[in-house]
Amino acid sequence: MKNQDLVYLEQEADNFFDRNEYDFDKLLDRKKNLIDHFSEYLGSQKIDTILEIGCHIGDLLNYCVESFNSSRGYGIEPSIKAIEEGRKRFARNCSLFHGLVGSDKTMENIPSCDLVVVNDVFCWISRESIFRSIANIDERLNSGGHLIIRDFLPPKKIRNQNKHVSDQEVFCHKIVGSHAELFKQTGNYQVISSKIFTDSDLDLTKTKEYDLSENTWVDILLKKTWA
Ligand SMILES: C[S@@+](CC[C@H](N)C(=O)[O-])C[C@H]1O[C@@H](n2cnc3c(N)ncnc32)[C@H](O)[C@@H]1O
Repeated sequence: MKNQDLVYLEQEADNFFDRNEYDFDKLLDRKKNLIDHFSEYLGSQKIDTILEIGCHIGDLLNYCVESFNSSRGYGIEPSIKAIEEGRKRFARNCSLFHGLVGSDKTMENIPSCDLVVVNDVFCWISRESIFRSIANIDERLNSGGHLIIRDFLPPKKIRNQNKHVSDQEVFCHKIVGSHAELFKQTGNYQVISSKIFTDSDLDLTKTKEYDLSENTWVDILLKKTWA
């Protein structure tokens, strides 16, 4: 079996792009909501540079740069199709890089940043590279900087096979407390604000039968500081 990060890099990230085309001229409300919920607080902070992990075409990253009057956004994304689409649209504000957050070589392109955004990505990262991925994010985030995460918040850990991939093991990993917990437990990240919601609130689910507890989410804003 291939490592799931490689499956993303070689096929699934582009397949995800193909399956999820929308009007790229309009930022989806559910993406915009993630930032708007924290923007009153973040508007009072100095946010010069921004990094988004799993940035797709970079539309949310571009929105962040404009919202916070930042000088530049940096995005990492394993879909080359998404990167090419984003480079055509957002080159003025954003530098987009093809690759994985767990790759030190890819992350060499990224300067230190004041804000990192990780929207629905941690669950798709292999367990082999999750600590490397977290270390790479922590290394790029300035002390006193902020981290926004949207992730699942299940009552017990669970992993489900990605139903779009049949020939490889590719899991969606949901962990107790969300992946924000891995940052919080260092003692060096403090919760500024959070919001809990379900798939039905965001109209994400197309099926009537689904387990609410498995599909509960958290949007969380952390500050990188000990105190
Ligand atoms: C559910 S999508 C979310 C995309 C985007 N953040 C959004 O909210 O529209 C998950 C994204 O994570 C990316 N991804 C998966 N594994 C990754 C990894 N190891 N490093 C960086 N991005 C990854 C995928 O290519 C995909 O764009």
